[in-house]
Amino acid sequence: MVEIIRFGHEHIREAAQIEALCFSDPWSEAGLELLTREEAVAFACMADGRLAAYAGMISVLDEGQIINVASHPDFQRRGFARAVLGALVDYADQNGIVTLSLEVRESNAPAISLYRSAGFVVAGQRPRYYRFPTETATVMVRTKKQITAQNQQKTGNN
Ligand SMILES: CC(C)(COP(=O)(O)OP(=O)(O)OC[C@H]1O[C@@H](n2cnc3c(N)ncnc32)[C@H](O)[C@@H]1OP(=O)(O)O)[C@@H](O)C(=O)NCCC(=O)NCCS
Repeated sequence: MVEIIRFGHEHIREAAQIEALCFSDPWSEAGLELLTREEAVAFACMADGRLAAYAGMISVLDEGQIINVASHPDFQRRGFARAVLGALVDYADQNGIVTLSLEVRESNAPAISLYRSAGFVVAGQRPRYYRFPTETATVMVRTKKQITAQNQQKTGNN
């Protein structure tokens, strides 16, 4: 069974394992506690009781910063990252968060493709943003206004 639920304390240990498998500079269990705080929102994709993917953001007023998105290597290419990212985007749309932004390694083609498919566009670059190895970040944003305009173009409404 696959389900999308709010990320909680009970997911932190498995999320830290996924971090270690996916990133050269992984978040620790202590760092991942941030996702359970009041200023954060995060979703977990559970597959047969295992944490398969998660995504989290911090929001201030009408802006959200996406801070983690990852899928366990055993569960990649099954639409689970798209599902947790979609849950975050829906949450943002329903809770007055107008602009979502994120950073991604410029070489991370799979993640950039995922974000594009969720309506994010490239907004700029931050040189030397990442370490291990040092790499430029591509900054991507999604605004509710821009998505509404895209949908109106598709349906022919103005
Ligand atoms: C990027 C990542 C989160 C994608 O997770 P996933 O669960 O495999 O992604 P999904 O199955 O939901 O795929 C959604 C879309 O992402 C893109 N995508 C995912 N994996 C891809 C790959 N290996 N190559 C190219 N595009 C890929 C595609 O656009 C895909 O849509 P499609 O299947 O219709 O082509 C996953 O590869 C991962 O955890 N990577 C390591 C951590 C990471 O880089 N996180 C992002 C940090 S900014």
